[in-house]
Amino acid sequence: MGMDKQLFKAVDQYIGQMLVRQDEALEKAVVESAAAGLPAIAVSAAQGKLLMLIAKMVGAKRILEIGTLGGYSTIWLARGMAAGGKLITLELLEKHAQVARANLERAGVEEAVEIVVGPALETLPKIAVAGRGPFDLIFIDADKENTPAYWEWSLKLSRPGTIVIVDNVVRDGKVIDAASKDTSVQGIRKCLEMMSKEKRISATAMQMVGAKGYDGFAIGIVE
Ligand code: SAH
Ligand code: DHB
Ligand code: MG
Repeated sequence: MGMDKQLFKAVDQYIGQMLVRQDEALEKAVVESAAAGLPAIAVSAAQGKLLMLIAKMVGAKRILEIGTLGGYSTIWLARGMAAGGKLITLELLEKHAQVARANLERAGVEEAVEIVVGPALETLPKIAVAGRGPFDLIFIDADKENTPAYWEWSLKLSRPGTIVIVDNVVRDGKVIDAASKDTSVQGIRKCLEMMSKEKRISATAMQMVGAKGYDGFAIGIVE
């Protein structure tokens, strides 16, 4: 796939110029995240815009994101939110949250976004107890080992019609290796298995190529 990766990147650049049209705040979010030493693992611009479009399609007013990093996907999701909407994003590391705060401010979405710092498995129960759900859209994109647990929390924080999106479900095709010793791969496999057994959800997964290589989203709707 070496040469293809170059091509995927070039086509993503073309799509970016033609349709995605990332503004300065989004560009700066990427630059500032890198400058602060954050890993370059945010969604691509085309994927970010897809998240924005899905938020718009469902008229999302309450969005939950698990895994903020520098707030790049957060900005896209917040911009897709209906007027008066509120997005809660969960992040383990205060350092990442700090970078995200500056990026969200630059994008003009800081009023609509609350960053909750701490391990998501500790902050999710608090969000549930505080009655912050149900959410219209949930984006799971944190540590892959805990993705099955995040999936369970997502169901608890959902209503019929809630959209749940899980990032990184393909991982260069590693997802089909049942014997994988990679705990991230096993976390994703377990999550997909739980989704398949859950009668309350109708779901699919899409393989994606582009600026971020070969990966994909699982997308489901709670019924
Ligand atoms: N959604 C972001 C990328 C998130 S990267 C984007 O596309 O722009 C994954 C993030 O999850 C990292 O910032 C990491 O610190 C965070 N994370 C890892 N373990 C976590 C945990 N247990 N609880 C909450 N966040 C966690
Ligand atoms: C990793 C995490 C992500 O959320 C992602 O989109 C890509 C890579 C990682 O931990 O390697
Ligand atoms: Mg991801």
